[in-house]
Amino acid sequence: MHGTVRGAQFVGTHRQAAAARLMGKAQSSRSRSVTVAIAAPERPNSLPQVPGSVRKSPPVVGPTVSRDVVRGLERELDTTAQSLPALRRFHTLLEQLPADEVHRRLAPVWAELCYNLESFNPVFTAVLLKVQCTLGQSDYVRRDAALQCLIVPLAGEYGLAAEYKLGKTHRQLFADFYASVTGQPLDAFLASHPACPHAEHFFASMLNDVANGGGQADAMSQASYALGYNLAVEYLAAYEKTWMLDAFRVLNDRVLAAQGKTLDWVFLEVHAVGEPMHAELGHAAVTSMVPADHVHILRKAMHDHDRDFAAFYNACADLLEA
Ligand SMILES: [Fe+2]
Ligand SMILES: [Fe+2]
Repeated sequence: MHGTVRGAQFVGTHRQAAAARLMGKAQSSRSRSVTVAIAAPERPNSLPQVPGSVRKSPPVVGPTVSRDVVRGLERELDTTAQSLPALRRFHTLLEQLPADEVHRRLAPVWAELCYNLESFNPVFTAVLLKVQCTLGQSDYVRRDAALQCLIVPLAGEYGLAAEYKLGKTHRQLFADFYASVTGQPLDAFLASHPACPHAEHFFASMLNDVANGGGQADAMSQASYALGYNLAVEYLAAYEKTWMLDAFRVLNDRVLAAQGKTLDWVFLEVHAVGEPMHAELGHAAVTSMVPADHVHILRKAMHDHDRDFAAFYNACADLLEA
């Protein structure tokens, strides 16, 4: 986990700089002989209780769900997922956009994608929190292993990767890609507050599902739901990003290159390569700590994400047809 270490050093560097700045402020305050009285906080009578993290039983140390079982759930997605035909529909339409309509039809889709791609970050954070809140109920080592798997993709969103120097954030990479296709800076587009109702609705659904642990009753079950949800996100993203790269390659060869565009492929290539690895990490997070008798919770979470992911991409496909 050198990336995490590097990240910590990076944060530490900034903390030191911030501390130095704060020291400077303190010194200048002292030089003006300003005395600030700080009241000591009152000691609470009892510690606040964190819902779901209160130990009700000994940590779960029974068998966890096996790799074969998780592979079976992934194969169910391969054959029954509603989002795969939705993704196929969207990317086929993208490849076939009429040359003189490309930019008009893509405009609302850019807004949706920009919001949607970033909205996964708070969802990942919610997944982490659900797992962390099994503190006292899940096994110490298993919980830690799952969290390490979950943090790697989230860190990558902010340019942190093991054994690499700090890179561009994925938001920066998306902005570079957008500018190369449209010839316009992304910040100017976003400053016009383009509507993205489908991405907003999708984000609300995802966060509601994960933050509520799928309505499961206890912290362990809610964490299993969050881990199943995360697995579905990453597993389906591997299809999504591979097909998105393929579709833009076709659109580039047919239309964009002839328009004089030189695409910045890094965003698409990084994700086409990275999402299958994220899917493996999501898989490993599940097998690290989800109890073997929580398969039905995993299946429910994966289905919930697939349903809403399909609705989002069908809405984006509708926009390309408009
Ligand atoms: Fe990303
Ligand atoms: Fe991912």
